[in-house]
This record gives sequence, C-alpha cells and structure tokens, in this order.
Amino acid sequence: MICAMSENGRTVTISLRNVTLAFRQNKRSSPASILEDIDFDIHDGDFICLLGPSGCGKTSLLNILAGYLPPTEGQITVGGKPLTGPNMEVGVVFQHPNLFPWLSVRKNVAFGLKYRNLTGAERRSIVDHYLDIVELTDFGDLLPYQLSGGMKQRAAIARTLAVDPKIVLLDEPFSALDAMTRERMQVYAHSIWERSGKSFFFITHDVDEALLLGNRIMVMRGGPGMIVRDIENPLRTSPHFSREIKRSQSFWAMRDSLLRDIENPLLADAPNACLSSAREAI
Ligand SMILES: Nc1ncnc2c1ncn2[C@@H]1O[C@H](COP(=O)(O)OP(=O)(O)OP(=O)(O)O)[C@@H](O)[C@H]1O
Ligand SMILES: [Mg+2]
Repeated sequence: MICAMSENGRTVTISLRNVTLAFRQNKRSSPASILEDIDFDIHDGDFICLLGPSGCGKTSLLNILAGYLPPTEGQITVGGKPLTGPNMEVGVVFQHPNLFPWLSVRKNVAFGLKYRNLTGAERRSIVDHYLDIVELTDFGDLLPYQLSGGMKQRAAIARTLAVDPKIVLLDEPFSALDAMTRERMQVYAHSIWERSGKSFFFITHDVDEALLLGNRIMVMRGGPGMIVRDIENPLRTSPHFSREIKRSQSFWAMRDSLLRDIENPLLADAPNACLSSAREAI
C-alpha cells in the first residue's frame, strides 16, 4: 500500500481535500449544500471524536468516508489511493448492531471472511482473536437475541474488525444504550482501539464521551456542514482510559468551550482557543 506522510511525520490513513456535498430534495429544486470545504487527514492510530448538532452533516460525512456516497466535489484517498466506493480498508459500525439474527456470534464475526482465501483454521484464529478483543470469547455460540445491547454492539465491532480495515467509522454506536451500559462501552471502545491498533472516527453527541475517548476532537457546524474546530485533546496525556480526567478543572473548561461551539458555532472563530485555555488550566 502507498502510504502518505503528513507534516508531523505520521502516516495518513484517509485524506479529504476540498470535499463538498450537495443534495437535490427533488428533481425541480436546486441542490442544497450539505457539506462545504471539508479538508483534513486521519492518521494511523487516531481516535477522532466528531461532535456537532443534529442535522449538521456528520452521517453524510461518514457515508462519504465509507465510500457509500460520492462527494459532489473534492478528493478522498485511502492509503494514498482514490476512494471510489466501499473499500475493505474502511469498516463501519452503525448505531444499531444489525447482526444476522440466525447466525451465532462466531458466525456473525466470521461473515466478512467468507470470500477471503483462508483455511478454516485461519478463519477460526481471526475470529478467536477479535472475540477476545471485544471480550466475548465465552459467548461465541450464542445467537444475537441471547445477548445484551452492549454485547450485540461489541459483536458488531468484532465483525467489522475481523476483515482488518485500516480505519473504523462509528456512527453514534452507543446512543441506543442505557447510561450505565454506555459508560462500560466507553471503556471497551478504548481498549478495543488500543488493542486493535486501528484508527477510529467516532461520531457522538456526548461531549464528555469525546473528551474521555478522543485523542483528537472535531466540531462541525451546520448550514452547510463545516469543521469549525479540529484539536488535539490535551486531556488525553496517558494512552490509558481514565475517568479521573473528569476531576480536573481543564476537563470542565474544555467541556464548556466545546458545548459553546456546538450550541453557537458562529462563536468558533478562534479554532484553538479552548486548547490553549485548557493547557493553561492543566
Ligand atoms: N439522501 C438525502 N437526500 C437529501 N437530503 C439529505 C439526504 N441525506 C441527508 N440529507 C440532509 O443532509 C443534512 C445532514 O444530514 P445528516 O444525517 O448527515 O446529519 P447528522 O449530523 O448526522 O444528524 P444527526 O445528528 O441527527 O444524526 C440534513 O439536512 C438532511 O436532511
Ligand atoms: Mg447522523
């Protein structure tokens, strides 16, 4: 695979340049601009959390990154090659796990490996590996209806990881779960990211979740959708997951600043203001 390097020397997994998207509501209407000037790189090992108000274009952006939707203008490359449609290098996890109800957890996870030239033993070893990563080793023979909501979502993540994508796109994967399960899933998400070595692009409405999980946080505004903030998360100083960061003053400073951007994105005219104020508070 051809690998591009960014200015900071890290390998670029996906690159978007001047991406725009416009939809026509019907044949007679003129196209409405949904996304404008989307321009960023996702690096190997990034955990990006994308925040933004409802309807601002987050899922549309994810659909473009997944190759499901062609942009109206602009270029997207994956590993240096133009993205022309759905691509094995890009995996997607949706809000609802959508497991095949008639297949066991193991068979669901193995599903994407069907058309690979693998022996049975190789397939079993890949499935075992990813069941271990999502901590479902003891539940492989169950059917989806026998799993809790969080377990189903972990099985869906394992199914996506099993085909070995470079990057996993997750569209509000925990929003259908209750608050306690969601907290546990955040710990799992972090450990899965850490152990799998993949890049994650994670859409969420939850600012706390973004601050706990992301090494990089992006904020989008709507009408048309644009990235108004793209910052390294200064709270993620340790690679390990910790809720302790919520005790720091800087956590609440960052949280307030991000919430202000989301509620009133026109205020986001100084893209790195919250980064510097949070650094001062650390
Ligand atoms: N196929 C389509 N045809 C026309 N307009 C569309 C289409 N898909 C999405 N849109 C419009 O694009 C805009 C962005 O939608 P999108 O689903 O990307 O928002 P979102 O940020 O993911 O919202 P939410 O947080 O509620 O999931 C909305 O105004 C929506 O009506
Ligand atoms: Mg959406």
